[in-house]
Amino acid sequence: MFSKYKKPASAPAKPAPAKVANIADAKPAAAPAAAPQIQTAAQQSLRRPVAVAAQPNAMDKERKRKERMGEIKLEMHRALLDNLNLAALEHATEKELRAEISSIAGELLEEKGIVLNRDDRQTLNKELYDEVTGLGPLETLLQDDTVNDILVNGPHQVFVERSGKLELSDVTFKDERHLLRIIDKIVSAVGRRVDESNPYVDARLADGSRFNAMVPPVAVDGSLVSIRKFKKDKLGIDDLVNFGAFTEEMAAYLQAAVATRLNIIVSGGTGSGKTTTLNALSSFIDNSERILTIEDTAELQLQQVHVGRMESRPPNVEGKGEVSPRDCLKNALRMRPDRIIVGETRGEEVIDMLQAMNTGHDGSMTTIHANNPRDAISRLENMIAMAGVDMPLKAMRSQISSAVNLLVQASRLQDGSRRMTSITEITGMEGDVISMQEIFKYQRVGLTPDNKIIGHFTATGVRSNFSERFRMWGYDLPASIYEPTVMDHR
Ligand SMILES: Nc1ncnc2c1ncn2[C@@H]1O[C@H](COP(=O)(O)OP(=O)(O)OP(=O)(O)O)[C@@H](O)[C@H]1O
Ligand SMILES: [Mg+2]
Repeated sequence: MFSKYKKPASAPAKPAPAKVANIADAKPAAAPAAAPQIQTAAQQSLRRPVAVAAQPNAMDKERKRKERMGEIKLEMHRALLDNLNLAALEHATEKELRAEISSIAGELLEEKGIVLNRDDRQTLNKELYDEVTGLGPLETLLQDDTVNDILVNGPHQVFVERSGKLELSDVTFKDERHLLRIIDKIVSAVGRRVDESNPYVDARLADGSRFNAMVPPVAVDGSLVSIRKFKKDKLGIDDLVNFGAFTEEMAAYLQAAVATRLNIIVSGGTGSGKTTTLNALSSFIDNSERILTIEDTAELQLQQVHVGRMESRPPNVEGKGEVSPRDCLKNALRMRPDRIIVGETRGEEVIDMLQAMNTGHDGSMTTIHANNPRDAISRLENMIAMAGVDMPLKAMRSQISSAVNLLVQASRLQDGSRRMTSITEITGMEGDVISMQEIFKYQRVGLTPDNKIIGHFTATGVRSNFSERFRMWGYDLPASIYEPTVMDHR
């Protein structure tokens, strides 16, 4: 068949691979021997059963089929690269390209005498298309909207996070070289490099997803890749209330806090929903304000008109050209911001952040990694100390207490649910200690048999220290929102 996307016939034909049709005969890897189980009856009854991976036997047939498909795909991909005129591809439409790949693949399959059913043919064509134009096996997961995170542990193990739970996906790479090729495609697209001497890298995918890779030998069992998928439609306040991340009362309180320009820190563990919360909180900012955002990887999506976005930059391969979050922050202060939002404070920029909060940029917000509000304060103290500022502890704490008004704790609970487990106000200093009062919290009461957490949100009964401020600014919250919720979970 003649085609403008096919290389001219003069291209030397590659020798046919020796063994494609026989792949189905390949022996499956031996099943691991069952671990000996020596347990006393007493031990058994006290311990809860531990989840184990599915038995290999049950998946044998499917794995054999996938292995065969994998081999065929690899052969096809090589043959396609040899056959396709890559220069002409750039101008082809998606439809043309898909048709072309499917037709060349059809010819190759026929040549090699491989017969596939319709579903397998379609899957093969899609995978070949993804391989040629996109990020290969990752492409399906990137397009799957139910997937939040993609975590690759070497070529044969790809985990995904769905609804807060990690699960093993059926996506694999052919081998480490295949995985490295995809990583290279991603990082070279953003002008970076990753190799033995430069073994880890941050990048952003074309769709905005956050990407981190670490390659061997630092990554011991094959390259490690973590992708935080970019959500086009970020979860808003209403979505989060509907998902049970916090209550309508808490939302009303947070609205008052943001609108009346309290300085807020969202604290939480990895993947607990800090950025999502920060983004949702920003929706309460008035449209007339000038907001500057500073992030490592631009994830925030502010809805206001007047937004200036900055992205810090790591040094290049020669160790030059770094623009740190602190550089951005210092510069931001010269750009007449009404508010500054720092995606995450994790280093010396903490000094400038606190200074900004203390000197007329009220209503600034950031996130930090910490497991509870007290921890968040300790993290701030540590960061100040690490930044090399030699300040007595009391002075440091007094800086923090006058800069930060509110700590919002985001948590990913053990059942995968993400909740705002605490809203805590900083009220000042008592002696050497920063005093705080919790206004709302998530009260856990137990666990269902299928490991779902039972609990509810409640006010603590403490009235906000900022009630008067809220009232003055026109956010007169009813006293009832501070009343504890009594719930019977039986
Ligand atoms: N309340 C929620 N319900 C369901 N999904 C949520 C909720 N909050 C956040 N998510 C999802 O969880 C994932 C992680 O959220 P997010 O990026 O906000 O976490 P993070 O704490 O900023 O993570 P990191 O520490 O990696 O920066 C995202 O895909 C987000 O859409
Ligand atoms: Mg984040």
